Amino acid sequence: MCGIVGYIGHREAYPIVLKGLQRLEYRGYDSAGIALYDEKELKVSKTKGKVADLKAKMESEVDTSGTLGIGHTRWATHGVPNDVNSHPHISNSGNLVVIHNGIIENYESLKKELTKRGYKFESDTDTEVLVNLIEDVILKEKVKLGKAVQIALNQTVGAYAIAVFDKSKPNEIVVARLGSPLAIGVGDDEYFIASDASPFIEFTNNAIYLEDGEMAVVRRHKGVKVRKIFDDSLVDPYIHELQLNLEQIEKNNFDHFMLKEIYEQPSAIKDTYRGRLHAEEGIIRMAGIDDNLERFLNARRIVIVACGTSWHAGLVAEYIFEDLARIPVEVEYASEFRYRNPIINSDDIVIAISQSGETADTMAAIKLAKEKGAFVFGVCNVVGSSISREANAGAYTHAGPEIGVASTKAFTTQITVLTLIALKLAKAKGTISNTDYHMHLQELETIPQKIEIALEENDHIKEVAFKYKDARNCLYLGRGFNFPVALEGALKLKEISYIHAEGYPAAEMKHGPIALIDEEMPVVVIATRKGHYEKVVSNIQEIKSRQGKIIGIVTEGDTSVRDLADYVIEVPDTIEALTPLLTTIPLQLLSYHIAVMLGKNVDQPRNLAKSVTVE
Ligand code: G6P
Repeated sequence: MCGIVGYIGHREAYPIVLKGLQRLEYRGYDSAGIALYDEKELKVSKTKGKVADLKAKMESEVDTSGTLGIGHTRWATHGVPNDVNSHPHISNSGNLVVIHNGIIENYESLKKELTKRGYKFESDTDTEVLVNLIEDVILKEKVKLGKAVQIALNQTVGAYAIAVFDKSKPNEIVVARLGSPLAIGVGDDEYFIASDASPFIEFTNNAIYLEDGEMAVVRRHKGVKVRKIFDDSLVDPYIHELQLNLEQIEKNNFDHFMLKEIYEQPSAIKDTYRGRLHAEEGIIRMAGIDDNLERFLNARRIVIVACGTSWHAGLVAEYIFEDLARIPVEVEYASEFRYRNPIINSDDIVIAISQSGETADTMAAIKLAKEKGAFVFGVCNVVGSSISREANAGAYTHAGPEIGVASTKAFTTQITVLTLIALKLAKAKGTISNTDYHMHLQELETIPQKIEIALEENDHIKEVAFKYKDARNCLYLGRGFNFPVALEGALKLKEISYIHAEGYPAAEMKHGPIALIDEEMPVVVIATRKGHYEKVVSNIQEIKSRQGKIIGIVTEGDTSVRDLADYVIEVPDTIEALTPLLTTIPLQLLSYHIAVMLGKNVDQPRNLAKSVTVE
């Protein structure tokens, strides 16, 4: 978690670093800080709170001039969010300034050593230990900053993306990465450093993505030198051409990124299947699958690893893969998988799903699966992310940047990619009839338009939200393909409105949750006409006879549920396996409107972060 930004060049650093932090706030937002150097003095401001609080503080405290600067937006790990624990951290001499995203796991032993040697620490952070360790190396070994960073990092255990400069030699910034992302934007005699490319997109399209275990010295007028931290070899960096544009990372006319991203789903899904789905010819082209088709066809089983919303997409995929392609699937929380000594063989395929491609537990699960000989296939959104590079093969979702912390378009585009894979394998294995295969392809192509129709229910959903915004608890029920959607709906509500919500398979209600139902309890039931419809209607009757309040997510034109429910929200009809792509939409809007009505910070819910790079 945490976002880091840096600049060295001919422009004023402050506006670039500040704007960059605002764009990276999705990575953490409990405190923020900036350090600037203007040829004469070092200026540091930091504060608990958001980047907006930092801006107010900084502009009243210091002169913000200077062409070198670094900044940090924090999601606290070691040390509570307060001004002192905020980054940047400064070494005891006052010369070295560092920002850090990650965790130094052996910081306590390092701190003890440094304390014995006379170092003093103001904060509770692991980062302050690191900056003093670097300083200690400079003093002891009489080496330059770059070498000192390398020696210090060879003594640390943990994960990091760091940027550090020495105010007595203000023409370079040293950066390094292990386990946390770091990009260097290469402009015209100017360089940008950031956790992702969004802070520098309007200045350059050229970026170097450091690999794990690499560091770089970024020198004013002299360029970037990359080397390996652990074996000291020089690396010839590849300069990527970025595809991002500014519009993708701005809110445009929407009040929140989450709402913008909900409304982007029709176009995001089109981007996901563009060039892959050729419904008329009955072809699905996906290089990552085509190149490894035999392996997929011979796979004993597929194990899906993921966290959060991506895990829910994995559950939907389990239903789709097993139903269409008849391949056994297991879905695991990456955080459990990595520590439970799982049985994995070389004929297993592990699919790792991750929007950010940086989630620490998912990354660790992949590494474990590879060690055990499995073939790993990544489904990521962020191009060039760590997981996409670590996987043996993969498919991007191409949803565009997702900035709202609560995931929306990432979820539906993940399901789209996984559906394409399942259909491709089903066709190759002969587990789907020709007619069904073509029908699925044609229907998938209509999903963006059907999502547009589902979005037209927005005003009605707002009314439903108003009615239930004061509920303390909420149940979400679904069956089959829509059971994971119920889990996802409940997660969305919890994440952004802080209302307790649980998702359940509708039939399981009788084994516990039914005890919770009374006239205070709203129950959102996904009851589309396909798939166990009558059984779900019976479940609705059971809720009704216990005075529960029913919000039915139904197929357009439905009358049976309408007669029983307090509210119904319609979605267009589609093939059963594709219903999650439609039923998800009203659940996203419902939680969005409830959170807005409750005055919550929808895009930056408390305690959460978009990219969880710590385990
Ligand atoms: C965090 C985010 C969730 C996301 C999960 C997994 O908890 O807040 O929205 O689903 O991480 O992230 P990933 O990037 O791996 O999909």
